[in-house]
Amino acid sequence: MRLKGRDVIEITDLTRDEIEYIFELANKMEKFAKSKCSLLKDKILALLFFEPSTRTKLSFEAAMLRLGGNVIGFSEPSTSSIAKGESLADTIRVVENYCDGIVIRHPLEGAAKLAAELSNVPVINAGSGALSHPTQALLDLYTIYREKGRIDGLNIALVGDLKYGRTVHSLAYALTYYDVNIYFVSPPELRMRREVIEDLTKANVRFKEYFEFKDDVLSNLDVLYVTRIQKERFPDPAEYQKVKNSYKITLDLLKKCKHDVVIMHPLPRVDEMDYQIDSMPNAKYFIQTYYGLLVRMALLYAILGDAPL
Ligand code: NCD
Repeated sequence: MRLKGRDVIEITDLTRDEIEYIFELANKMEKFAKSKCSLLKDKILALLFFEPSTRTKLSFEAAMLRLGGNVIGFSEPSTSSIAKGESLADTIRVVENYCDGIVIRHPLEGAAKLAAELSNVPVINAGSGALSHPTQALLDLYTIYREKGRIDGLNIALVGDLKYGRTVHSLAYALTYYDVNIYFVSPPELRMRREVIEDLTKANVRFKEYFEFKDDVLSNLDVLYVTRIQKERFPDPAEYQKVKNSYKITLDLLKKCKHDVVIMHPLPRVDEMDYQIDSMPNAKYFIQTYYGLLVRMALLYAILGDAPL
């Protein structure tokens, strides 16, 4: 499997076989996750974050350091020449000279794609506007695979802001590679983007849309993937006011689910889940962040590494 030098802009840039190869590598990365190795010694990764991030940025950074590589970049564009009016295109043309790979997060939907077109080093999309977040989809799938032992055959609900949430868009596309039943549960105002629905229909994926939780759906679920309302992406604050507090995962609601339902969340969470859920064995959102480290180590090694592991 050759991923060396590849850009990852959308999850569909990877095939199912490539995704599962990354999972195999991620399993092998476990032994390096708490110590250091030299698999990416002398490699430099540039992290260009034009939007806030905790997990994505720090896990890419930690992944690179655990692999023995180095990291440069910024998490606050106001500290770079962007503040002087430099364009994204010029920034990429400069930064590519300083590194072996670029990880970019940007509020504009086409920014990562543009960066990949301009750059001679591989570019990884760490979140582009409301559109996509392919490495999150990879770690989400890996979490399901680790916690359930398989992905095929599962009943998976994606809950919350399906309109502005980029993680659910990439995850929905990632699930087209598997034989699953998808339940989209959201307020009507935040239903799944129409173009995603059309693509899933063309791909013959089994899915249904719901505007509230139904008991017969809850009792079927193997995975409950919860997201926050993406307040910062609403063009109109009045639109946000209408939907805020429109759903919450409670202990009572979880009583209607299977005893081994896996609860995931890309985080950050705000108020869409009861905090008492944290102590349930079903709550997997913190281990999900650890799996994110393994997956990003695997991806960086696959793209920047020199030899098969
Ligand atoms: C997500 C994102 O940035 O899209 N966070 C993340 O990367 N784990 C989800 C979110 O912000 O709600």
